[in-house]
Amino acid sequence: MSTNTTDDKRKVTTVRLAQMKQQGEKIAMLTAYDYSMAKLIDEAGIDAILIGDSAANVMAGYSTTLPMTLDHMIYHAQCVVRGVKRAFVVCDLPFGTYQGDSLKALESAIRVVKESGAEAVKIEGGEEIIDSVKRIVNAGIPVMGHLGLTPQSINAFGTYALRAKSEAEAAKLKADALMLQEAGCFALVLEKIPADLATEVTKMLSIPTIGIGAGSGTDGQVLVMQDMLGINQGFAPKFLRRYAEIGETIKQAVGSYVSDVKAVDFPSASEQY
Ligand code: KIV
Repeated sequence: MSTNTTDDKRKVTTVRLAQMKQQGEKIAMLTAYDYSMAKLIDEAGIDAILIGDSAANVMAGYSTTLPMTLDHMIYHAQCVVRGVKRAFVVCDLPFGTYQGDSLKALESAIRVVKESGAEAVKIEGGEEIIDSVKRIVNAGIPVMGHLGLTPQSINAFGTYALRAKSEAEAAKLKADALMLQEAGCFALVLEKIPADLATEVTKMLSIPTIGIGAGSGTDGQVLVMQDMLGINQGFAPKFLRRYAEIGETIKQAVGSYVSDVKAVDFPSASEQY
């Protein structure tokens, strides 16, 4: 583990992210859902922030991402955007707002950008959603693709296990990746696929790949902030590195506060008017 040394205060854009791939500089991305956390991670030098529909899990307590609505996502994106000066901000389009109808997809993306100030949208899938990608890109909205484990399809997958282990699924993923690049995606999330496959896809594409559970060969990494900070304590997949145990810190701090209040130790004479 090392501490960040980013002195580069320039606003990150899609152009900068493309340059980072060309120059071999890795892209560091995290999720955020609120103003305070977004401000902290932006000040710490994160390159890109994703308002993920994982908000369903870590903010709202749902077991899948499926219940998130466009209004929920826009609310979280508005909060994040107010806290960010440098990072590039991407917002997930939630389940049911872009599949099967490219006009609806465009309307969803326009609402997100117009109402929240997020700079790009992310959508899950390959060939099946290619018309939506093209329509959104044609409107001038950058689109990030997402292949591999796409959590909005959990009911079809039946499990959150590693994807694209079979040759057939790996071949489809590669074809989808090329199709998404051709359709105009500026970057691609690769989630929970074999590291060798992620490296191969990364070499094949001119756009950056951002991995989660996809090894070190991608152009960047993304993690859910609550997971890497140890706030979401029950979640410990192999790919996750915990950079802090904030959950424990919070419990200890709140425990001390409860004790102090009960013992009439807080507030003290110097903490009152
Ligand atoms: O919703 C999310 O947080 C995501 C990341 C895990 C990539 O899609």
